[in-house]
Amino acid sequence: MLPRYVSRVSHVLMLVLCLSAADDFDWTKNDRGSFYYGTFPTGFSWGAGSSAYQTEGAWDKDGKGMSIWDVFSHKKGKIFLNDTGDSSCEGYYKVKDDISLMKELKLNHYRFSISWPRIMPTGIRSDHVNEKGLKYYEDLINMLLENKITPIVTLYHWDLPQMLQEKYGGWQNISMVNYFNDFASLCFERFGNRVKYWITFNNPWSVAVEGYETGEHAPGLKLKGTGAYRAAHHIIKAHAKVWHTYDTQWRNKQKGMVGISLSGDWGEPVDITNQKDIEAAERYVQFYLGWFATPIYHGDYPQVMKDYIGKKSAQQGLGSSRLPTFSSQEKSYIKGTCDFLGIGHFTTRYITQKNFPSGRGTSYYTDRDLAELVDPRWPDPGSEWLYSVPWGFRRLLNFVKTQYGNPMIYVTENGVSEKMVCTELCDDWRIYYFKDYINEMLKAIKDGVNVKGYTVWSLLDKFEWDEGYSERFGLYYVDFRNKNKPRYPKASVQYYKRIISSNGFPNQREVENWKRKATETCSSSNQLLAAARRKSKENKEHAEMPKVWPVHDEV
Ligand SMILES: *[C@@H]1O[C@H](CO)[C@@H](O)[C@H](O)[C@H]1NC(C)=O
Ligand SMILES: *[C@@H]1O[C@H](CO)[C@@H](O)[C@H](O)[C@H]1NC(C)=O
Repeated sequence: MLPRYVSRVSHVLMLVLCLSAADDFDWTKNDRGSFYYGTFPTGFSWGAGSSAYQTEGAWDKDGKGMSIWDVFSHKKGKIFLNDTGDSSCEGYYKVKDDISLMKELKLNHYRFSISWPRIMPTGIRSDHVNEKGLKYYEDLINMLLENKITPIVTLYHWDLPQMLQEKYGGWQNISMVNYFNDFASLCFERFGNRVKYWITFNNPWSVAVEGYETGEHAPGLKLKGTGAYRAAHHIIKAHAKVWHTYDTQWRNKQKGMVGISLSGDWGEPVDITNQKDIEAAERYVQFYLGWFATPIYHGDYPQVMKDYIGKKSAQQGLGSSRLPTFSSQEKSYIKGTCDFLGIGHFTTRYITQKNFPSGRGTSYYTDRDLAELVDPRWPDPGSEWLYSVPWGFRRLLNFVKTQYGNPMIYVTENGVSEKMVCTELCDDWRIYYFKDYINEMLKAIKDGVNVKGYTVWSLLDKFEWDEGYSERFGLYYVDFRNKNKPRYPKASVQYYKRIISSNGFPNQREVENWKRKATETCSSSNQLLAAARRKSKENKEHAEMPKVWPVHDEV
């Protein structure tokens, strides 16, 4: 925990000394303009999401190979409380249960990811294809379709086969491009007749920066100033290759779409009259979202990245930029390889110009020459980095519209965590977060942004990477201490359900009733959960629970 906390503090400063989180709950201070009553375009798709490593469990079952996350989480000291995703929500055994939760919400789509090592244990197709792993996804997809829920499938949600890491250095190595293309091709071959929405990568920024620069995520490498750029370079090429594979070999038959899911916080200048702050805020967004979106929409990295990293590399006495370059052939191959853009968005920062002399070590963070700040009045109920700033969402969506030619957008991740260790199903703060963020998305659509769907992050509480189980993003609470991993609805389930059934926010009278109705049921759910917890605690006094639970509830 400690290293991560320290590194965060070093690049996120407070505008003023922060109040304690509990004092922060004045949501009105967030307001920029009034609430907009209205509905979404007909056919707007409402969903929720998950990812394989975070929810499936069954990490070594039915022939699955190891991923870099299996190995990373088993190392002591990497994850909060040394927790792992070994069993997590046991989603592998609970497909039926989880689909009934989606039906309760009346979701139009469900976003999940395919674990590469579950279907190719070494990562290499010619080594071995694991039919049992394929069968799991086959059943999941079929059951979704039977229930009229559209699958949106992510190919890479961070769980690289460990073998590819050990043998080739993972995303540091260009050979990943072909291996990933083989994996994607198998997925198109087996599932493409039923899956029409493919996402190549989820949040490649995090893969590059946290996997290869800070080492907070698997594979835990700290290749400061070079590792993230190289990983991103190969990921962009791999994305383009898979898009071309689909385009030339499958599109005619399968008529689906291939996109990518990029994450990006919004960066707002601290002082909107200061040109340096305005430029620094622009750099913040270009180094984040633009790093990946600009090559995919325009063929090359953002000019500010080329300028800043090039300048700093020269000051270091390097012969060439630490930012790799695309050949002109590669540029035209990469440009335009996106049928829709997935956007993951959670929060916003204020940005100001700050020079980092190149002598004092280099990193992705110092290359940007900026400082991130937060307003202490912004609500911060859960994850340390996640402040609720709804208006930033509308700005980011408008930025995407103007920068990349108004692409078709699916919001692939949006949500908020809670940190409370106690069981709390009356999640007011999540209700406010969804209400305000979804409302800002509605305003963005009125601005002309082409948003086609929205995905709550996430359906269930789950393994939250280096934070273990300490941060809960779910609409449904999961009791991880109970071996059956029961799910309990939070109040936000009822609230989101009403947004879905009204396709937005029809009028003030109705919407004002929703919160009261949503919280009516949660106190009884709270009691149920508390009773179950007491019971399991009593049992625990008799027999210490094993860490890995036996197989159960098989579908
Ligand atoms: C995690 O593992 C490390 C290294 O073995 C140990 O020092 C630490 O106390 C462990 N933490 C917990 C919460 O068990
Ligand atoms: C990439 O993998 C090849 C083996 O295929 C190896 O020779 C090479 O050193 C690797 N490159 C890096 C940067 O690890």
